[in-house]
Amino acid sequence: MIDSSDEKQRTVLRETLETLWTIEQDFRRSLGDFSAVRAKAPDVSSVVDSILPDTTKQRQNELDGTSLAQLEKLVTACRLCKLEKTRHLVVFGEGNIPARVMVVGEGPGADEDAAGRPFVGKAGQYLDRWLASIQLSRTNGAYIANIVKCRPPGNRDPESDEIAHCLPYLERQIELIRPETILCLGRVSAHTLLNREGTLQSMRGQWFRYRSVPLLVTYHPSAVLRNPSLRAPVWEDMQRLAAFLHIELPHKAR
Ligand code: URA
Repeated sequence: MIDSSDEKQRTVLRETLETLWTIEQDFRRSLGDFSAVRAKAPDVSSVVDSILPDTTKQRQNELDGTSLAQLEKLVTACRLCKLEKTRHLVVFGEGNIPARVMVVGEGPGADEDAAGRPFVGKAGQYLDRWLASIQLSRTNGAYIANIVKCRPPGNRDPESDEIAHCLPYLERQIELIRPETILCLGRVSAHTLLNREGTLQSMRGQWFRYRSVPLLVTYHPSAVLRNPSLRAPVWEDMQRLAAFLHIELPHKAR
């Protein structure tokens, strides 16, 4: 789940103000002063906003109205989280628009960090084969991006603050690209876009929606390379995607 430290601080402040209000009310009651006792708690949002402005909302406003090229410029210059200290190149994403599918991975690995392009290593070449099996490619109907645009060192999972800083970029990217479908690769991608926990197994095999865009979850190609028993469910997922997009498949393309 996503919870940036800013959001946590705002939640603590909101709860503190509400608790203070309750204490004040109890104190007045104990003094028999009922003139300022209220049945309903006041809305403390404006006080919270004035003390700790909602930076997520502010950033969202900044990104509203950007074109894809402007967004890429902003992302490339981003220094909002600690990943900027260790990255070599920012990996914005690439592919074909209009996109029949927008594939969303987790974050760049070493090869992507060096190339500035998503999914160019072993897992990426494997992903290209998955796409080709349903007659899609980076130059034909598929756009590829990641949850975070900079490489987490040592290929660790992106941390929640890194995701929280980077997610508005992906949200705007999805808004601009308006793909017909989204394919989440792996747990981090699925948990982030669906904003829920759960095993990959429990999430695949069914359609979800991300802001009205139909979304499917499947295993990450790196996981499938490590564990060939996942190939069959992935093929099922790719067939499900193809059927949804009315792509006719030749027999047993795999
Ligand atoms: N793994 C990912 O999740 N994304 C990439 O771009 C490469 C590997």
